[in-house]
Amino acid sequence: MNNIFKSCCAESTEEIGKTVGRLLKGKEIIALYGGLGMGKTTFVRGLCAGMGISADVSSPTFAIVHEYRSNDKILYHFDMYRVTSWEDLYSTGFFDYMDNGVIVTEWSENIGNVIPDNAIRIKFSLGDTETERIIKIEGVQDI
Ligand SMILES: Nc1ncnc2c1ncn2[C@@H]1O[C@H](COP(=O)(O)OP(=O)(O)OP(=O)(O)O)[C@@H](O)[C@H]1O
Ligand SMILES: [Mg+2]
Repeated sequence: MNNIFKSCCAESTEEIGKTVGRLLKGKEIIALYGGLGMGKTTFVRGLCAGMGISADVSSPTFAIVHEYRSNDKILYHFDMYRVTSWEDLYSTGFFDYMDNGVIVTEWSENIGNVIPDNAIRIKFSLGDTETERIIKIEGVQDI
């Protein structure tokens, strides 16, 4: 099932993230696609809130991965911007995190063939105005 949302502003992108976050069971892989400033980190902020985790969400560009936790849920937030080879990817520990919690990856373009078929794929693109974004969500039922 495909779902396409139009976001008018950062708050709306965060709200869409929240909606997805509420639907998660706990071990999903969510691959985000779309260029600089498209709202991926903003979306993850909502995702985290929707999972019931309160955390300061920021781009893990240098750390590569940030971990956000509540009592019973974990969200691993990856930024693959600087990950350009298999060696890079292995050294992030990406494969060890699978099945331990929800994984969300920014710059999924960089690790294309590693994203499993059953992952949730979310594609961000520009809308008609400076603050409008089109958010296409694949792999979530009943959103
Ligand atoms: N509709 C929108 N959705 C999300 N962010 C928006 C929107 N309109 C404007 N913005 C602004 O665009 C910026 C998005 O930043 P954000 O860090 O979420 O992008 P990103 O896709 O993670 O970028 P990067 O690739 O650098 O990690 C913020 O400054 C936000 O206020
Ligand atoms: Mg980001």
